[in-house]
Amino acid sequence: MTTDNPQRDGAAVHLTPAGRPVGDSCNREVPPARAGEFSPLAIGPLRVWPPVVLAPMAGVTNLAFRKMCKDYGAGVCTSEMLTARGYRMGNEMTHLLAAGGEGEFPRSVQVYGSDPLDVGEMVKALVDDGVDHVDMNFGCPVPKVTRHGGGSAIPVKPRLLARLVRAAVHSASDVPVTIKVRKGIDESLITYPDAGEVAQEEGAAAISLHGRTAAELYSGQADWSAIADLKTRVSIPVLGNGDIWEAWDALRMMRTTGCDGVVIGRGCLGRPWLFSELAAVFDGCEPEPPPVFGRIVEIMDQHAQALIELFGPVRGVHQMRKWCAWYTKGFRGSAAIRGRLARMSSLEEMRCTLSEVDPQTPFPLHVLRVNRAKRGGTQRVRLPEGYLDDLLDDTPPKSPHSPAELEAWERALSGG
Ligand SMILES: Cc1cc2nc3c(=O)[nH]c(=O)nc-3n(C[C@H](O)[C@H](O)[C@H](O)COP(=O)(O)O)c2cc1C
Repeated sequence: MTTDNPQRDGAAVHLTPAGRPVGDSCNREVPPARAGEFSPLAIGPLRVWPPVVLAPMAGVTNLAFRKMCKDYGAGVCTSEMLTARGYRMGNEMTHLLAAGGEGEFPRSVQVYGSDPLDVGEMVKALVDDGVDHVDMNFGCPVPKVTRHGGGSAIPVKPRLLARLVRAAVHSASDVPVTIKVRKGIDESLITYPDAGEVAQEEGAAAISLHGRTAAELYSGQADWSAIADLKTRVSIPVLGNGDIWEAWDALRMMRTTGCDGVVIGRGCLGRPWLFSELAAVFDGCEPEPPPVFGRIVEIMDQHAQALIELFGPVRGVHQMRKWCAWYTKGFRGSAAIRGRLARMSSLEEMRCTLSEVDPQTPFPLHVLRVNRAKRGGTQRVRLPEGYLDDLLDDTPPKSPHSPAELEAWERALSGG
């Protein structure tokens, strides 16, 4: 039986009895977890339940958003990638973003570095400062980074990767270090099997795999079979990443790949309550229906206030602009206000603009699986000239030295 719903672009949309749009690839047929079906995720001494990690996301997973996701039930909330060179050079923003919140546990920071000295120093300082988990980013696909042999180019040279992981693990003492990688550069240069071996040999506590190559950026469908394959190759925990838009996807990924935990990226942008849905299904329950617009306005208000507290009134409101687009995505009547929200300059302006939409407007289910934050498209990955001539080379690529170089570099880095 289907019912009609006149929401999508004014056209009738047929809904399944569960209220999902027919034809959207939703996964409601998957039952919630059975008692004892999944175990808490072990990351070194940490036991994480639900086995769900908020993905490191540049410009996104600052303290304000981490706290919201944690409150909704995420197991671990990782900071955005922070450069070890920037940290060592005393970059103010890097230090602000590396700081933890009051009572934040586990405090999890993602480090990006391509020089073992930088990495070792940053990890030691973080551990001295009370960090509970360090993740290392080896998946960044940005041309400015791979062109110099950084980011996703590093796993191409397993001995260099080993030096970096070793430096982190050594400096971290008892604090667990994990690594996050992509499948490889492109289909002709797959690096995750070597990365898994290196991670395990060098004492990493777990490995996360985003099932796309750097060439694929965020396009197409993540390849979960690579996650299943990695699981057969290593004995350390494997975290699966890519295209978890609904709680059901996480169960499906765990069941089909055998991975030990899941990493949630774009699916929670403007939808932090996704973590309460994940917590519910891992506990064997049905998730609550998504909030109506009025409730989302309250969440946005809380988010904006936290950003203002972290970054100050000007930067905080500027940061909130992109969140407004994600929170209001697809809501009937929101197109008219989105332009103003993208230019807003105060919390008051946000509140006033949002009040124009009927608070009872239901959540637009058809946008659940729509890409957020990153455009589609692929790229030809740039590597340094002659980079593939000696894969056993473990020389670190050049990192910026001057503050100006560093700033340009930090701007180019936008994640994994
Ligand atoms: C806005 C944005 C910023 C990102 N920044 C980082 C980052 O700092 N470090 C990282 O390892 N990956 C980063 N990523 C990649 C995500 O962690 C994740 O691997 C990717 O989005 C795939 O997961 P998803 O399909 O759940 O989004 C970023 C992704 C997005 C969308």
